[in-house]
Amino acid sequence: KRLILVGPPGSGKGTQSPIIKDEYCLCHLATGDMLRAAVAAKTPLGIKAKEAMDKGELVSDDLVVGIIDEAMKKPSCQKGFILDGFPRTVVQAEKLDEMLAKQGTKIDKVLNFAIDDAILEERITGRWIHPSSGRTYHTKFAPPKVPGIDDVSGEPLIQRKDDTAEVLKSRLEAFHRQTEPVINYYNKKDVVAQLHAEKSPKDVTAEVLKSLS
Ligand code: AP5
Ligand code: ZN
Repeated sequence: KRLILVGPPGSGKGTQSPIIKDEYCLCHLATGDMLRAAVAAKTPLGIKAKEAMDKGELVSDDLVVGIIDEAMKKPSCQKGFILDGFPRTVVQAEKLDEMLAKQGTKIDKVLNFAIDDAILEERITGRWIHPSSGRTYHTKFAPPKVPGIDDVSGEPLIQRKDDTAEVLKSRLEAFHRQTEPVINYYNKKDVVAQLHAEKSPKDVTAEVLKSLS
């Protein structure tokens, strides 16, 4: 399967991805995770991306299209993939279509994590992540066994620099202005499945699996 997960910050894309990945043996390509790794490693890409990310604005289309083009060549992605956080502009969606057309493939489904903005601040400000695995926790909705510690590795959890109420406002603005048109783009292709992303993680998983069956 070739899937796209689209939704505002905190809508649950990163939470549902590992479950979908395991169920269908797909690779998980999250542009946000890849960019954060590049920023942490201070690579040329990371240095270019950092300023926009810290402000909650989108990184340039050329940079992210380059990352995805490279990542999709991995052998583990040949059977199918989950794109989490990409495409986020209509230009990125058009470039993706071109890349896939060259391989004679196309997107099977776009999962739209539809949710009211008002719910997102609590989800974003309570999030803790384990950076090397991408595992995500929430102080209230998905607490780790020991506060601040990853359940599996025992390593410390961190908060994302852009997970403040202030930066969330810019991220939401970018979503409505630049990413919502991407949903319309795929609506015209009749591949969008609408999810009720405000439900509990388990209920959202059930909706996801139903929409893919
Ligand atoms: P990115 O990393 O993609 O961030 P985002 O889109 O803002 O999405 P999030 O990761 O915040 O939300 P999520 O939906 O994954 O939520 P999660 O499941 O973790 O992008 C970061 C930045 O990188 C961008 O701002 C931009 O600068 C740049 N970038 C990335 N891609 C780009 C692109 N294509 N083009 C240009 N720039 C790009 O859940 C959130 C919290 O809620 C967690 O704590 C979780 O435990 C909890 N939770 C999840 N589901 C539920 C539920 N059902 N009920 C209760 N709590 C829940
Ligand atoms: Zn995410």
